Amino acid sequence: MAGSGFIGEEIRVESPDVIYTDTEILSYYNYHDSHIRGNVVTPTMERLVFKTQRQLPKTGLLLVGWGGNNGTTLTAGILANKLNVTWNTKEGLNHPNYLGSICKSVTMRVGIDDRFMPVYAPLNNVVPLLNPNDLEIWGWDISSVNMGDAMRRAKVLDWDLQRQLYSNLKEMLPWPSVYIPEWIAANQSDRADNCLKGTKKEMLNALRQNIKDYKNSRRLDKVVIVWTANTEKFALIKPGVNDTADNLLRAIENNSPDISPSTLFAVASILESCTYINGSPQNTFVPGCIELSERYHVLIAGDDFKSGQTKIKSVLSDFLINSGLKLQSVVSYNHLGNNDGKNLSAPETFRSKEISKSGVIDDVVRANRLMYKSNESPDHCVVIKYVPYVGDSKRAMDEYISEIFMGGRNTISMHNTCEDSLLAAPIILDLVILAELCTRIQVKRDKDEEFTKMHPVMSLLSFLLKSPQVPPGSPVVHMLFPQRYAITLLKSPQVPPGSPVVHMLFPQRYAITNFFKALIGLPPENFMMLEHKVP
Ligand code: NAI
Repeated sequence: MAGSGFIGEEIRVESPDVIYTDTEILSYYNYHDSHIRGNVVTPTMERLVFKTQRQLPKTGLLLVGWGGNNGTTLTAGILANKLNVTWNTKEGLNHPNYLGSICKSVTMRVGIDDRFMPVYAPLNNVVPLLNPNDLEIWGWDISSVNMGDAMRRAKVLDWDLQRQLYSNLKEMLPWPSVYIPEWIAANQSDRADNCLKGTKKEMLNALRQNIKDYKNSRRLDKVVIVWTANTEKFALIKPGVNDTADNLLRAIENNSPDISPSTLFAVASILESCTYINGSPQNTFVPGCIELSERYHVLIAGDDFKSGQTKIKSVLSDFLINSGLKLQSVVSYNHLGNNDGKNLSAPETFRSKEISKSGVIDDVVRANRLMYKSNESPDHCVVIKYVPYVGDSKRAMDEYISEIFMGGRNTISMHNTCEDSLLAAPIILDLVILAELCTRIQVKRDKDEEFTKMHPVMSLLSFLLKSPQVPPGSPVVHMLFPQRYAITLLKSPQVPPGSPVVHMLFPQRYAITNFFKALIGLPPENFMMLEHKVP
């Protein structure tokens, strides 16, 4: 569709640096940055080669906490899309869609046309991406309720849609899961009627067997596992227990009480070579677990889906501070009435969420030494309350106070109401689709012989996660250019240990689209539009 500003089919790059074969895209890529010592800045360039497999594998998605609001909303939403189910509401006839998914509903700027006008393309026309309708879905839950009744229990989707999907979903029964009461709120015990028995090692083996059997019975090439079960309390990092991969495996053998259900799932997933994503705030990825993922080169990502309030916070703090306004106070109140809210009403699980939500303004504050001294940061307070009546329709109220010119103050208050699970479900999809893509990419420095896999900790997915995991030893600071983050994906001894954590939303988003561009040998988005400025 030349001239329309939109590319509606797979992009084909014509360049000596890009080679398409039937099975792969090879991209020879010049990665530019600047190196700084004192006040001396030297431009740097490194030539990298990306190799992306073009064929899409048959992929399964296994959800931990399948019968919850997110799990059922996602499963029902995909089914509705797959079967093209339409439904009536008082507003009229509704059609299924994938709004809220960057892989399905967002375009990226590819370049300019003959008239210097921008041209956009959906992400899956840049490199091939899984179609969510092709995913095979199953999962675990400590509640034995079938997915049809679990969808009704969640009260998220319109009744007429539920009515049409019920008969399909009621055939789906979750596998028994790992329930250890100390790790989640006591108020969850009444739904725990579908629990594995035995030692931690026996439970680990049962999870591994579920994964193997599912993969074989559905003839899947790959499985991605996502934790969307209740938030757990934080795990203590104990030397000799969970600090190294070997200690962690030994602690599981010894039935140690310090190993959380979510870490057990992550270990099962890694040992079965399945990508594992943690959608809740707890520290599933204890150091031993990260080391295990590195040992087996299995991709992991986390923590905590970034759906509403945190997304806005990462935008607003960036906007205020980078407008030169000194943000001094951020206060966020939430109330919600779903089972997630009920679980978070216990102090230990709330603490996990509070930690996850609190880091979000750190990087933008620390990048600005003009306004903030090294130990100075705005007041930041997070409150979450359980109010059953509002159900899944979460309320978020935020207040931002900034100091402005000549002693003035600027206060922004906002109120956001939204069905939490309708925001989270497409984010889960994006995480799965992008994580699967990462498993199809290999990379090397031009001068090296061998390609390697991406670094197992997928910091690329930070856009979708509140408290992004980056390769170990990371300083939690710095605002850097988006393209910088592509390099944290490289598994290479020359990459300094530790990558900066980026919370700002738009840098995170451009880290994704610029990475897509790198995979087909195109330069990163630079926003300069010099073609319109240079006479
Ligand atoms: P939910 O409470 O409706 O669902 C959680 C499900 O997990 C329940 O069905 C429960 O029975 C099950 N479960 C608990 N422990 C389990 C275990 N050990 N193994 C298997 N199943 C287990 O919660 P919802 O709303 O679906 O959220 C899920 C998680 O996602 C929560 O941790 C929440 O904090 C997190 N999250 C949700 C967001 C959203 O917008 N909905 C955003 C960010 C994170």
